[in-house]
Amino acid sequence: MTTASAGGGGQWSTSHGFVLAALGSAIGLGNIWRFSYVVGENGGGAFIVVYLIAVMSIGVPLLIAELAIGQRTRANAIDAFGQLSAARPWKWAGWLGVAASAAILAYYPVIAGWVAQYLWIYAAGEPHAAAGSDFAARFEAIITDPLRALVWYGAVIAVAASIVAAGIERGIELASKVLMPVFAVLVVLLAGYGLSLPGAPRALAFLFSPDWTALQEPKTYLAAIGQAFFSIGLAMAILVTYGSYLPAGERLPRAALTIAAGDTLIALLAGMMIFPAVFSYGLDPAHGPTLAFVVLPEVFAAMPGGRWIALGFFLLLQVAALTSVMALIEVPVSLLTAKLRWGRPIAATTVGVAAFLVGVPSALGYGVLRELLSLPVPLLDVIDHFASNVVLPLSGIAIALFAGWVWPMADALQSSGLATARLRQLWIWLLRVAIPGTIAVVMVRGLGFF
Ligand code: TRP
Repeated sequence: MTTASAGGGGQWSTSHGFVLAALGSAIGLGNIWRFSYVVGENGGGAFIVVYLIAVMSIGVPLLIAELAIGQRTRANAIDAFGQLSAARPWKWAGWLGVAASAAILAYYPVIAGWVAQYLWIYAAGEPHAAAGSDFAARFEAIITDPLRALVWYGAVIAVAASIVAAGIERGIELASKVLMPVFAVLVVLLAGYGLSLPGAPRALAFLFSPDWTALQEPKTYLAAIGQAFFSIGLAMAILVTYGSYLPAGERLPRAALTIAAGDTLIALLAGMMIFPAVFSYGLDPAHGPTLAFVVLPEVFAAMPGGRWIALGFFLLLQVAALTSVMALIEVPVSLLTAKLRWGRPIAATTVGVAAFLVGVPSALGYGVLRELLSLPVPLLDVIDHFASNVVLPLSGIAIALFAGWVWPMADALQSSGLATARLRQLWIWLLRVAIPGTIAVVMVRGLGFF
């Protein structure tokens, strides 16, 4: 390991190791489970067009800004903001990101735990894989069983925390170098299989021939921006943190484009594996969060060899989720090691235990707790909605304004690594005006305020 930086110790050993780790954090349940149901709910192709525009015009510039803030300061996500401006209050931009990550850490591993249970069930060849079961009831049984929920998501957290404990280079980077290629092979195989199914033409039409009426709905835009933030992991302190482990020479624009494009490509490939299957078996794509857990198992049960396809699918989902949970744990770990000078193993253990504890309400939110508090909707959905549609947009606005107006411009431009004057001008203008303005309008409209 190289010299310990203020960012919590450690540095990426190779450029592609960093890109793979950042891709691992970006590619997660958001690309497969969340993307497919959000596309399903928001009218398919039209949503995808808005999504692509959001990724290019908001995602990439913010990605560059966050990585640059981290790389320039080599500090944790809070101190980084403090170091670049004398004005204290900007530290809250960092805190907002950390808060968003923490909110997501409170429920994300719970879903990863469901994935682990499905993986187990399919590996063991339980009757779940047989046709004729009631899959909605099966899913209910899984998510409302408190003991199972706790054990499985605890296991996911334990694995992720031990990787984080091993450090940047020998933990997160090494794991990403091993896991991401496995992931890539699985996704290509499954998407290829999806495209060979009879429902493929309908699925492609659903994904790529836009129904423009969806564009009249303000919530389509909010959903697209929220999904882009969630999926890339923007405004969640993670990219500032990963940027802080970068050597000074790394070219950011190229890395940012690779991360954004890779994340988007995986989401589209996930669509190509999921929707053909859904259409081939005459099911409804607009099913919300249960798409992966109820609708797909139904499809797998009807498919010849479905158990193996199911195994591949949930393995894919598990790898994606695990690398993202690692990143979510790394954010608070980097704070603890930098601010309190804790050692990595202790910090990772503490964060793991804390994540387990704060996840309990989400884990039980579907069953016991929901009944106890008589909640109208599951707690997990409430946290997800609040984090994605309120905290993330606010945090995104803060980072754009910070990088555009507060960070001294010459230094910001230099740190961005953008090569031409034109690109630099465009980047600053997007950060100063276009990005905060768009997010603010979309957020206020999408939440139904006017
Ligand atoms: N981007 C991840 C996904 O698509 C989820 C995620 C959101 C995340 N915020 C994060 C991962 C912060 C790491 C850190 O599933």
